Amino acid sequence: MTFRIKNLTFENVMLAPMAGVTDAPFRSMVRRFGNELVFSEMVLAESLVRGHDKTTRMADRTERDAPFAVQIVGRDPAVMADAAVIAEKQGAFVDINMGCPVPKIVKAGEGSALMEDEDRAERIVRAVSDAVRCPVTVKFRLGVDDERRNYVDFGKRMRDAGASALILHARTRRQMYSGSADEKAFALLKEAVDVPVVANGDIRTAADAARVFEQSGADAVMVGRGALGKPWALAEVAGRNPMPGGATADFVLDHLKALENYYGHKAIFIARKHIAWYSLGKRGGAAFREKINTEDDPAAVKEMIGSFFGTDDG
Ligand SMILES: Cc1cc2nc3c(=O)[nH]c(=O)nc-3n(C[C@H](O)[C@H](O)[C@H](O)COP(=O)(O)O)c2cc1C
Repeated sequence: MTFRIKNLTFENVMLAPMAGVTDAPFRSMVRRFGNELVFSEMVLAESLVRGHDKTTRMADRTERDAPFAVQIVGRDPAVMADAAVIAEKQGAFVDINMGCPVPKIVKAGEGSALMEDEDRAERIVRAVSDAVRCPVTVKFRLGVDDERRNYVDFGKRMRDAGASALILHARTRRQMYSGSADEKAFALLKEAVDVPVVANGDIRTAADAARVFEQSGADAVMVGRGALGKPWALAEVAGRNPMPGGATADFVLDHLKALENYYGHKAIFIARKHIAWYSLGKRGGAAFREKINTEDDPAAVKEMIGSFFGTDDG
């Protein structure tokens, strides 16, 4: 199923931005299963504008990587606008992070801190929307804590400032990732605004998505942790079943190759978490993860992947 943001049509399932996960190699694995909207890792606007190599690469888009949104984080409207222009030049859409609960980001007045500084949040969205023509989305939470759940008013203000869609992670900042997402919030936000609402939090299966669509009228769902070790998760949530047996050795090795092409010799360390996620729930997984995490030799790691994923039927 599809929905529209401005005059553009998207699949109604999308991949969440995840720092340390949704890099170009991971997105290339997700792309094998469909053409859903995917988000970059969180990109520091300031570093992007200054042209820091590592940040610039995070906002890079390969030709096949579309539709693609770069998520920017920052607190200065002018810098955020400049960063958005850079992202748009890549052929990406722009998502503004107003939900990150990580203390370093919050202390800097960025991410979810902006939910406590609505005037500034509004200035940021206005500056970014004025600077680009592509869709601008804002991703935020319910509020700082249960006593300060301002997401409906906040969403309205961001919409009025120019946001073309709103993405709600239905937890408070205080919750971080604990407890469960408050799915009732999606309907309340949806009723309050006339732009698309994307529901996020604990959506892992087609049944989860069906429930949220039915109960909230949300326009799309966004999948985060459900895609760890499962780049085909969006396809599953959309009702397809492309990898019934889970990750195969060839699939994991292809992901490792993509990481090697992108990160060079560092790939083997970056790959560890992905390999571990692929192995979750498989017989002998714990022992396998322990071995993989201490093996630095790429050839040995590849052999271990071949025999673990090749022989396991679970
Ligand atoms: C490892 C990890 C990294 C994340 N990094 C970001 C990020 O950079 N920007 C962001 O807006 N949210 C980030 N999130 C939050 C997710 O985008 C999403 O909102 C959250 O995980 C809830 O969705 P889920 O229950 O489907 O995982 C991250 C989550 C995880 C697990």
